[in-house]
Amino acid sequence: MKAYHAPGRVNLIGEHTDYNDGFVLPIAIELGCTVRASAVKAPELRLSSRQYSDTRTVRLDELAALKPARHWSDYPLGVARELLALGLKLKGMALEIDATVPTGSGLSSSAALEVASALALLDGRPLDKIELARLCQRAERNFVGMPCGIMDQYASVFGEAGAAMLLDCRAQTHERVPLPEGVSIVVVNSMVKHELGSSAYRERVAQCQEALSHFPGKQALRDVTLGELERAASSIPEIPLARARHNVLENWRVRQFHAAAAAGDLARMGQLFVESHRSLRDDYEVSCEELDFLVATALTLPGVHGARMTGGGFGGCTVNLVDRGSEEAFAKEMRARYQARYQLDPAVIVTTPAAGAHAIRKAAG
Ligand code: GLA
Repeated sequence: MKAYHAPGRVNLIGEHTDYNDGFVLPIAIELGCTVRASAVKAPELRLSSRQYSDTRTVRLDELAALKPARHWSDYPLGVARELLALGLKLKGMALEIDATVPTGSGLSSSAALEVASALALLDGRPLDKIELARLCQRAERNFVGMPCGIMDQYASVFGEAGAAMLLDCRAQTHERVPLPEGVSIVVVNSMVKHELGSSAYRERVAQCQEALSHFPGKQALRDVTLGELERAASSIPEIPLARARHNVLENWRVRQFHAAAAAGDLARMGQLFVESHRSLRDDYEVSCEELDFLVATALTLPGVHGARMTGGGFGGCTVNLVDRGSEEAFAKEMRARYQARYQLDPAVIVTTPAAGAHAIRKAAG
């Protein structure tokens, strides 16, 4: 049996910019997905998960014509289809999936599952890291049907222990971003996931395209400057204009955050978190009541430099910059206040940048 691990991610800043060729600044985290793979005689993929009781078996010759089943197995099967499309041969395998990253929490459980499954199915065959990330993104776009950007799969593949990454989603290259000493990245899970999520995501992608159509000659919203946006504002309908404004300013905030991190300026980093959250709430409209409550609450607590929603939105997690040493008191207070308001116990996770996807074990069998 062989085993592979791929991490989830927390995006520090740069939200909903990846599918507009923009900038994002995520870290890979310790939570992720492990896939244990063993050979089976029959020409089929047998998929099982520790978190779900239902299993799924699909014959290799059925894969090409397979339709998505709106089931967790769509992720590994989408990956298997993309590997076939590259001309790679697959053999009969049993994949046992075990995820520590909670699903639907905005921490990229899907990308972790895709990347770990891809490594398992590759079974030691080499594939460039960037091709691995792109293949997993294609699996999600083509089979699962989510028109996602490259951020999650890229972070899961390229994560580095000890540093965040500034990813240019057009160039698909990144720069290592060490974070200042003395600050902890603390994630708070709202434990809610509003239904709206995937349809609203598609809608945002379309609204960004609509905004872009007002800038002939520009390839993506990433190419639009604030001045150009202001000059065109009166001719762009209100909603696409607001989506574009979020994108233009969020890309700027990512660069500002990068500079602030290099300068060890925690106050500025925190301020940019808060501005990003407000923009996601007001201009991009992907936050929700629970996330706004978590952010507003965090900002009243000692040792907190900044808070914002992270990931696609409509539930999931917030990310908080908290002084080292204040994490425990922060967690206690956040849980108490959230419970009192929503009768839900939010998971609070102190996290650090973790390594990207890798093989974890090689045993007999
Ligand atoms: C989801 C998508 C990413 C990205 C974020 C929002 O996680 O999978 O590609 O668009 O939402 O920043």
